[in-house]
Amino acid sequence: MKDLNVFTTLESLRERVKENGDNSSVALVPTMGALHHGHLELVKKGMSLADEVVVSIFVNPTQFNKKEDLDNYPRTLEHDVRLLSSLGNVIIFTPSVNEVYPENHCDVTLDLGNLEHVMEGEFRPGHFNGVVNVVKRLIEMVQPAYSLFGLKDFQQLAVINFMVKSYDLDTQVVPCDIVREPSGFASSSRNQRLSEQEKFDAVIIHKTMMHLRDLAKKCTPSEAKKKAVDFFNKGTLELEYLTIVDPETLMEIDTWVPGARTCLAAHCNKVRLIDNMELIASELGA
Ligand code: PAJ
Repeated sequence: MKDLNVFTTLESLRERVKENGDNSSVALVPTMGALHHGHLELVKKGMSLADEVVVSIFVNPTQFNKKEDLDNYPRTLEHDVRLLSSLGNVIIFTPSVNEVYPENHCDVTLDLGNLEHVMEGEFRPGHFNGVVNVVKRLIEMVQPAYSLFGLKDFQQLAVINFMVKSYDLDTQVVPCDIVREPSGFASSSRNQRLSEQEKFDAVIIHKTMMHLRDLAKKCTPSEAKKKAVDFFNKGTLELEYLTIVDPETLMEIDTWVPGARTCLAAHCNKVRLIDNMELIASELGA
């Protein structure tokens, strides 16, 4: 059965959005599908801000460094549509690769400076260039007043803020808190690929970050990092990086600053997981 709120072409999406008149506001929630609670919180926040919410579901080929990851990315459209419909009147945009990147589309290359060399940038070359291009294109297509992104992907959010400022895009980027499972594990589309035992083992990520929060009260960042790495390595996951950064520059810090964050990536067997947590409260009003 065709769902009346699912649109695959830009033209049909624009027609639908126009139905509400020129003064209605739109919030965009870009996703790659395989939706879970974390995504739904972004949608709910969008609903509280704007008259209409557009959720894009597009597995963007240009942000995957390995073809295998792109091929294995979970695609659960029916389930996604059902979840979104349970929230109410959400507009779902599921464009094809040709719709997002038509023949006359020109990719941009934005110099992200340090943002593309650290953390995810270092381990996933070209990834953020793919994210910049797809998010820029989606914002230009949907023209939302608000664009919502999760703090779960902290570096991605920093990159998107930088991109929106660089191209002077007319949208307000709205960061949304990380949604976690009761165990503390951040909800993620990749969790579907973990066994119950692996999910149990992966809780070490959250435990390490909570431990770091305590350490932040009594150690320097470098001492805290060393202790946290030792703590993490008592578990079974393989650490790719654990870093303590300035929330604006994402540069590793050696003295504590307001909003200091730990960001980490680790492998739980074949599944790569990322997470982050604020260690020092941001200044009030910052
Ligand atoms: P995806 O991984 O599907 O995530 C879509 C949005 O949901 C992102 O903004 C992400 O940060 C947010 N999100 C995921 N899990 C979350 C959680 N547990 N808590 C809060 N927010 C969470 O990120 C992407 O897709 C893509 O890179 C995209 C931006 C769509 C570009 O292709």
